[in-house]
Amino acid sequence: MRAFTEWPVEVPETDTPPLKVPAVSQVETLSCSDAELTRPLVQSIKAAANEGHWIQTYTEEQVGRHFLANYGYFELVGPKGHFHSNHLRAFVAYWGAGLKYDWHHHEAEEIYLCLAGGATFYADGRAPVKVSPGKAVFHASHQSHAMMTTDQPILTLVLWRGAGLAGLPRMDNA
Ligand SMILES: [Fe+2]
Repeated sequence: MRAFTEWPVEVPETDTPPLKVPAVSQVETLSCSDAELTRPLVQSIKAAANEGHWIQTYTEEQVGRHFLANYGYFELVGPKGHFHSNHLRAFVAYWGAGLKYDWHHHEAEEIYLCLAGGATFYADGRAPVKVSPGKAVFHASHQSHAMMTTDQPILTLVLWRGAGLAGLPRMDNA
């Protein structure tokens, strides 16, 4: 994660208000596997989950009601984050068990760090990767990728860098 980008020195706190999505209660009571390395961050996210400005990128038409009831993320650092930066975006993102996050893409380069739980990540031109706590996976600019959770949810820290930093992911079939 350190090699991915320089952590900005100046990250002033913004007055971004809390905002809930249904999955916040799942984050607060998360009890899936974690790792010694990620546990302090997982505990902090659980404790502060009700202060996050949780949002969803997709509509019910795109991903269905079940998906929206079991996923959400907030921008911890970034142009619209709880802490402001135009050089890096860091999201805390959660998906419940048994979800398929369909093929999507975005311009910014991305690294996912699995904090708790796990999932299988798929990316164009690469074999599927099973990710567990402490493991990271990289997506290049515009590289299509997808993700599937099975028996456990996944809590992740996602970093974006480069061109398209302030953009949004888009479904490939949208
Ligand atoms: Fe992505």
